[in-house]
Amino acid sequence: MIIIGSDHTGIELKKKIIDYLYDNQIEYADVTNYSNQDGDDYPDIAFTICSKVLENTSNLGIAICGTGIGISIACNKIRGIRAAVCTDRYMAEMTRSDNNANVLCLGARLNIAKNISNIEEIVEAFIHSFYNGGRHERRLNKIKKLEEMNNGEGNKI
Ligand code: RB5
Repeated sequence: MIIIGSDHTGIELKKKIIDYLYDNQIEYADVTNYSNQDGDDYPDIAFTICSKVLENTSNLGIAICGTGIGISIACNKIRGIRAAVCTDRYMAEMTRSDNNANVLCLGARLNIAKNISNIEEIVEAFIHSFYNGGRHERRLNKIKKLEEMNNGEGNKI
């Protein structure tokens, strides 16, 4: 299932992506419904989306803020989340195949987001690409080790 959410900057973009998911019969859950701009800080939204993504290994998240950057930083603090800001199809394909990314982060205020077909292309590539495993597994295991560190001192990956 696709778990989707946004802060106030991404409400319109989120609606358009939901239309795309609906039209393409892709199962989704919209986990944010904020209208109060004071209460929709992207770290909270990242937590809401990622908690739901982690409920099932087949889930993928779509997390939207103004740039995609803030929410990706927040998502990547959560153990088990590999979040990637993507601004084109290639990035979306690669982050699934090489990084096994489980959250796609999008920037609603970017120029590319003004044309919904750009965003649909990214979403489509993210959803329909698959992790390649193999040599990438070693690298992802090293990321897991980084997650497990309390601090950088005395640890080796
Ligand atoms: C909110 O104004 C904005 O800072 C947020 O959506 C995001 O772009 C942060 O990275």
